Amino acid sequence: YVIGVDLGTSAVKLLLVNQTGKVVKEVTREYPLIQERIGYAEQRPEDWVEQTISGLKELVQTFDGDASTIEGISFSGQMHGLVLLDEENEVLRNAILWNDTRTTPQCADIYQKVGKKTFIHITKNRALEGFTLPKILWVKEHEPELFAKVKTFVLPKDYVRYRLTGQVHMDYSDAAGTSLLDIAKKEWSKEICVLLGIDVSICPPLVDSHEHVGNITSEIVTQTGLSESTDVFAGGADNACGAIGSGILSEGKTFASIGTSGVVLSYETTGEKDYQGKVHYFNHGEADAYYSMGVTLAAGHSLNWFRETFAAEKSFEDLLAEVGEVPVGANGLLFTPYIVGERTPYADANIRGSFIGMDSSHALKDFTRAVLEGITFSLNESIAIFRENGKKIDTIYSSGGGAKSAEWLQIQADIFNAKIVKLKSEQGPGMGAAMLAAYGTGWFRSLQECAETFLEDDETYLPNPDHVEKYKQLFKVYQDIYQQTKVLNE
Ligand code: XUL
Repeated sequence: YVIGVDLGTSAVKLLLVNQTGKVVKEVTREYPLIQERIGYAEQRPEDWVEQTISGLKELVQTFDGDASTIEGISFSGQMHGLVLLDEENEVLRNAILWNDTRTTPQCADIYQKVGKKTFIHITKNRALEGFTLPKILWVKEHEPELFAKVKTFVLPKDYVRYRLTGQVHMDYSDAAGTSLLDIAKKEWSKEICVLLGIDVSICPPLVDSHEHVGNITSEIVTQTGLSESTDVFAGGADNACGAIGSGILSEGKTFASIGTSGVVLSYETTGEKDYQGKVHYFNHGEADAYYSMGVTLAAGHSLNWFRETFAAEKSFEDLLAEVGEVPVGANGLLFTPYIVGERTPYADANIRGSFIGMDSSHALKDFTRAVLEGITFSLNESIAIFRENGKKIDTIYSSGGGAKSAEWLQIQADIFNAKIVKLKSEQGPGMGAAMLAAYGTGWFRSLQECAETFLEDDETYLPNPDHVEKYKQLFKVYQDIYQQTKVLNE
C-alpha cells in the first residue's frame, strides 16, 4: 500500500491506495481559513500538521493489514503559500496562502527592480499576488523584526513533510510557483534574490517529486501507528499531482479541471518554451518535465454566483438539466466570467464580467447555457495560446464539477474542439501523490507505467463539427469583449 496526502486549502484528504491503484480508504480532515482583513488569507501550519497526523492515525487504525505493508507516503499541496521558519525550524507566523491578495505593491516592486522581461524570462510567469516571492517581500517590509529571524522558507506540504520526517526540502514542481526558481535551469535564481535583497540561503534544498527524502520519525510512528519502515517521497504541487493523477505524462496530454476555479493544463517536454507569461509555466512532478497551465479564477464560482443570485430555488441538477433545450450559442447570449478578475491570459484583477446580447425572449435556461459556455470560452483562451505555440491538443481529460454534467462535457468537446475523456475514478491530486509514492517505492519503472495500471478511461465526448464551427465564430466575439470592457473597471 501507499498513502497520498492532499493538503488542500480547506482540508487535508488522505488516500490509502493498493498496488492496482484502488483507493481502499479515504479520510478527510478540515481546518479553518484565517481572514483578518479583506484580501488576507492565512492558515496555521500547526493545524495542517495536527489534522494530517489525526487523519493518518485513522487510516492506520481502520486498516485490516499490518502497518509495515504501507510502503510509502507522498504529498500534494496547495501551491505558493509562505511558511517562514527560524533557526530551530520553528514557525515564525501564520502561513500566507495562494489566495491572499495583499501584495499588489510588492508585485510592482518586483518588475521595477528585476525588470519585467528578465523576471518572466527566468521564472516563466508573471509577478502575481498569489505567488510566494511577493509574500516574502511583504513580510520583509511590514514585519522586519520577524523577517530578521527567518532561516528558511517552505511551502505548505513541505512543512507537513518536515514534521513527519525532520528533513527540510522543496520539490521543483512547488518551487516553480515561488517566483524564485529559474525554471529551465532548475536552480534558485541568485539574480532575483540579489536584486530584491533576499538572502538565497533561505531557499531550501531542491529535490524531484518522487525522490526519497526520509522516513517517519519515531514520534510520528507512536502518534499514528505507521511503521518506521514507511518511506517518505517528496511529492508535488497540487496542479502537478492533479496532472499525474489524470495521466498527463506525455506530450499533447491535456486536462481541464473545472472546480471553483478552472484549470487547463498541458504536458511540456522542455523548460525553454516561452509563453511570455500569458499562461503559467511550471516544472512537473515527473522529473525534468514541465506543464503549461491556464487558470480561470471564477469557473464553478461563476455558476454558483449565478444560481444563488437568479435561481436560488433550483438545484444545480435542475438548472443544468434545462441547458440541453437551448441551442449552441445560447440564442445569442454571451457571458464573460470575470466576476472576481481574471488570471490567464490577462492577469487583470480589475476586469469584471458581462452578459451581452440579451433579448426579451430569453429565459433562465438561456442564461445558464451562456454561463457554461462563457466559463468554457475563458478556458479556451488558454488552450488557444497552447495551440498557437505549436501544441497539438486533440484529447482533453475533464474532471471536477464541470465533468459531472453531460451537457457541459459536450460543450467542452465543442468549444475546445477536442475529444473529452472522463476517468473512471477521479481522485485528483491525492491520487497523483499516491502515484509518486508508488513509483518512488519501486513498484513501477516510470510514472507512465504506474498510470497505465492505476488509471482507466470512462466516457468520451466527441466534438460535433457543426457546433465547433458555430463556437469558433462566437469565440472571436468573446475574445473582443475583454479589450472593449476593460475601460469600465480601470
Ligand atoms: C495555482 C494556484 C492554485 C493553488 C490551489 O497557481 O494558485 O491552483 O495551487 O491550491
